Amino acid sequence: MDIALVILAAGKGSRMNSDLPKVLHPLAGAPLLVHAMQAGASLDPKHTVIVAGHGADQVRAAALSHDATCTVVEQTEQLGTAHAADQARNKLQGFEGTVIILYGDTPFVTAETLGAMLKAQQDADVVVLGFEAADPARYGRLVTEGDTLLKIVEYKDATDEERSIRLCNSGVVACDSRLLFEMLSEIDNDNAAGEYYLTDIPERARARGLRATVVRCDESETLGINTRAELASAEAAFQARARRDAFENGVTMPAPETVYFAFDTVIGRDTVVEPHVIFAAGVTVESGATIRSFSHLEGCHVARGGVIGPYARLRPGTELSENVRVGNFVEMKNARVGTGTKVNHLSYVGDATLGERSNIGAGTITCNYDGVMKHHTHIGDDVFIGSNTMLVAPVHIGNEAMTGSGSVITSDVEPEALALARAPQIEKPGMAKKLFAMLRAKKAQQQRGS
Ligand code: UD1
Ligand code: CA
Repeated sequence: MDIALVILAAGKGSRMNSDLPKVLHPLAGAPLLVHAMQAGASLDPKHTVIVAGHGADQVRAAALSHDATCTVVEQTEQLGTAHAADQARNKLQGFEGTVIILYGDTPFVTAETLGAMLKAQQDADVVVLGFEAADPARYGRLVTEGDTLLKIVEYKDATDEERSIRLCNSGVVACDSRLLFEMLSEIDNDNAAGEYYLTDIPERARARGLRATVVRCDESETLGINTRAELASAEAAFQARARRDAFENGVTMPAPETVYFAFDTVIGRDTVVEPHVIFAAGVTVESGATIRSFSHLEGCHVARGGVIGPYARLRPGTELSENVRVGNFVEMKNARVGTGTKVNHLSYVGDATLGERSNIGAGTITCNYDGVMKHHTHIGDDVFIGSNTMLVAPVHIGNEAMTGSGSVITSDVEPEALALARAPQIEKPGMAKKLFAMLRAKKAQQQRGS
């Protein structure tokens, strides 16, 4: 059975009080919309259609950068959820299979729940995802009879008796594509909000002698984000779950509440993550590594046995082979580092390739930027880079070469050579003593004069 996802993301999200469209506010390092896309992607959909409206250009760019195969359609006027879903009609013309409708501001729906909906769809025509709300507030209410969903009533249109129902509408719907679009064209806006309600679908199905049913999930999965405070609570909920998952996957964290994960962080077994570590998007850490306190990692890969930090910053494009050490106050960007190489103190390594077993001395800098362009530094195997070496890229240091401390290296260094590029030391016997005497006399004169 083929699946198409339709993700509604046209709303303004006025309560965010933001220039940024609500669905682009980040949660765990990715826009809310990407979380919804990721949940849906678990079903391996044939089509993913995003319905954008407010900030459509930005939403389109974000959606396509996450998944270049998705389609973004524009709903120029926000006339309601049924009208929004209907914008996918052209794209899904001729599609045979099940459409699942998700909301761009509802990031936590799980793959298991969507799977349960597809299963329920085997003996129902429409499946709606519902939840028992602790505080049903203004959610749409699900009116059921046994397993059958009779109708959904919006809060604004509900009677007191209907408002007392605790089973609420999450908004997620699964329905055969052809049937869905037939029913969408029958929906009118004759209701308290004057909107085209997607929630009219179960009644439409009943009118055709078809059956709607409910799949239930935990309220935490259907959490929708409307305000910045809710965004912060969602972040806390995400982090709590990510920390639990990390423990289950065999990660040691003495202070889990101080460690922050991104939506896509992967950490191997028996890795230790010390307090106050932040994983931004795109990080994988293999087994048996140690990420020491106050390190910040983004878009990088740490292989088995690596020791990172404390106070290290790994930026996008950093690829560390096994047993690499990156010490305090070291920044790396777009750098490949070979097995066993050490960059232990106070260095910047950017746009560089480092071989195996090399040692990069304290204060080394790859001078990768000339003010206009970026250039590459290549360091071979078994190299010793002396402390405070400036490697002015593009530059190539051969295997088993050395650079003297304080060198400014502007040309390539042959294998096994020692490169020195600093002013030679000169020594003037007795000169310090004379200088001290002169300076002290001067100070004494000044003090007498004042
Ligand atoms: C909707 C449901 C309600 C449910 C609640 C769950 C309807 C009529 N009501 O209400 O039963 O309990 O969600 O959170 O469906 N959107 C568009 N275009 C539009 C209107 C909305 O893209 O014209 C998008 C929004 O961006 C949002 C989603 O659809 O992602 C839901 O819209 P919203 O206005 O928040 O619906 P609710 O009133 O919360
Ligand atoms: Ca809402």
